[in-house]
Amino acid sequence: MERLQKIIARSGICSRRKAEELITAGRVAVNGKIVTTLGYKASYNDIVTVDGKVLGVMEHKHLVMNKPRYVISSSSDQFRRPTVISILPKEFRKYRLYPVGRLDYDTKGVLLLTNDGQFFNALVGPDSNVEKEYLVRLKGIISEEELKKIEAGVVIDGYKTKPCKTYFSSADYYNKSCLVGVILTEGKYHQVKRMFASIGYEVKHLTRIRFGNITAVGLKEGEFRNLTPHEIKVLLKLSKKT
Ligand code: URA
Repeated sequence: MERLQKIIARSGICSRRKAEELITAGRVAVNGKIVTTLGYKASYNDIVTVDGKVLGVMEHKHLVMNKPRYVISSSSDQFRRPTVISILPKEFRKYRLYPVGRLDYDTKGVLLLTNDGQFFNALVGPDSNVEKEYLVRLKGIISEEELKKIEAGVVIDGYKTKPCKTYFSSADYYNKSCLVGVILTEGKYHQVKRMFASIGYEVKHLTRIRFGNITAVGLKEGEFRNLTPHEIKVLLKLSKKT
């Protein structure tokens, strides 16, 4: 379920603010009934009309981008920093894309972009079990036992993280750092950084190398491509696995 103004905006006819005006002006109906309350939620299967005209469905897009560092994972930024949407070619503006989950400003790697609400909800909801794999450059050399702690789940701000997988990739004894992999099935705010911080390790660099079946292989930083119908099907299937 999604707020009505969001559904209208995602159809591409207007902004969310304009959609709110349309709702309060009594110009929007859901399944034939006028709705004037802004908190109203509808599903993408409901028939929404504006001035009696059924909302057109915008062509759905599903992209994977190799997000560079120092780019914001949102549609706009109050400080006018580059965003994952602003670095797309202009002709993509009309699709009203948004990122599927977020990567931090200083995290790079695999980021999905879409305008398909159902696809988005399947992949970012708390019930989504899609694996997200990260390569983590840590300050210091972590031990196998400490990695086992991460795997079992650590407490970050009162929340115990779900069991996950890790692997040790390499150690740089000269610079006192190491590279480890971590595979999560959830995505709390700053999760990887906070998980390692909870056992005393600072993350120096973070790269997401996989989201479910999708990697950024073949994409330079800032480049993107359409997902294939088969990739989308597999991703949606993975999101349902428990
Ligand atoms: N975990 C983090 O700490 N940052 C990210 O960008 C992604 C996962």
